[in-house]
Amino acid sequence: KMQVFHSVSELSVFQQQNKSKGHSLGFVATMGALHEGHLTLLRRANQENAASIVSIFVNPTQFNNPEDLEKYPRRTDEDLALLEAEGATAVFMPSVEEMYGNEVEAESIDLAGLDQGMEGEFRPGHFAGVATVVKRLFEMIKPDRAYFGNKDYQQVLVVKHVARIFNMPIEVIGCDTARFPSGLAMSSRNFRLSEQGMEESGIIYREMKWAADNYQAYSPADLKDAIRAHFATSNLELEYVELVDTHSMKVVEAWSEHPEVRIFMAAYCEGIRLIDNTTLY
Ligand code: PAJ
Repeated sequence: KMQVFHSVSELSVFQQQNKSKGHSLGFVATMGALHEGHLTLLRRANQENAASIVSIFVNPTQFNNPEDLEKYPRRTDEDLALLEAEGATAVFMPSVEEMYGNEVEAESIDLAGLDQGMEGEFRPGHFAGVATVVKRLFEMIKPDRAYFGNKDYQQVLVVKHVARIFNMPIEVIGCDTARFPSGLAMSSRNFRLSEQGMEESGIIYREMKWAADNYQAYSPADLKDAIRAHFATSNLELEYVELVDTHSMKVVEAWSEHPEVRIFMAAYCEGIRLIDNTTLY
């Protein structure tokens, strides 16, 4: 039977039990409204660890837009049923008070520039909030391994950085993106899309694939211009397209200077903000 915890004191009993049995613990952090993408992380945590724990916490400090926080989907009963069916050992669902006391604010954690550009640029303060909550969740849960989705690639780098600078003995693992048949990356927000919006949003993945197949015929700047032109004839509003060195996260200006490159995009469809990224080469 899956255990559900709301407080740090309940968690410590669970940790003692795991420790005494010599069980490794795999952790998946979420904001709920769970979908197949979240469940792929949990499956991996279950494969690689004797016990698993999933947190569900809609973190107020990472929302740069109050309306987005208010509209964020909340489906606790469905979430718990999915996690139980998937064999999670435990779920941690803290209150805002348990996580923050009465100071609901991000800590200032030096993110070494990882919070600049792309999501950091278009969502000011977002990564400070993510770093704060993940640091606290890691301290409370003390997992051996933690699983994050590469859909949020910049977030994976931020989380790895946090674990490193605070000397946490946690292996942070980036996992593949789960997609709908159209190629659209699954996300809690995009369940609000109409059927037409779902179909139209397939352009994000198609453009990333097109870029991977054709980049050699373009300079980086011209490739981005071509993608912008393709979006201009669609119903999606492209917020940014960026080409970034996979390791240094530096913006790519010449292919020859970068052995591995990823392509990143953010676009709006029906007022819903969608992000995605994949390997260019
Ligand atoms: P949330 O958006 O709920 O995502 C939780 C985890 O699931 C993240 O690691 C995210 O990258 C991953 N994920 C989301 N969609 C995915 C998909 N289609 N395929 C694979 N993995 C996917 O990301 C957050 O919550 C928060 O920022 C959090 C880390 C919980 C901190 O509050």
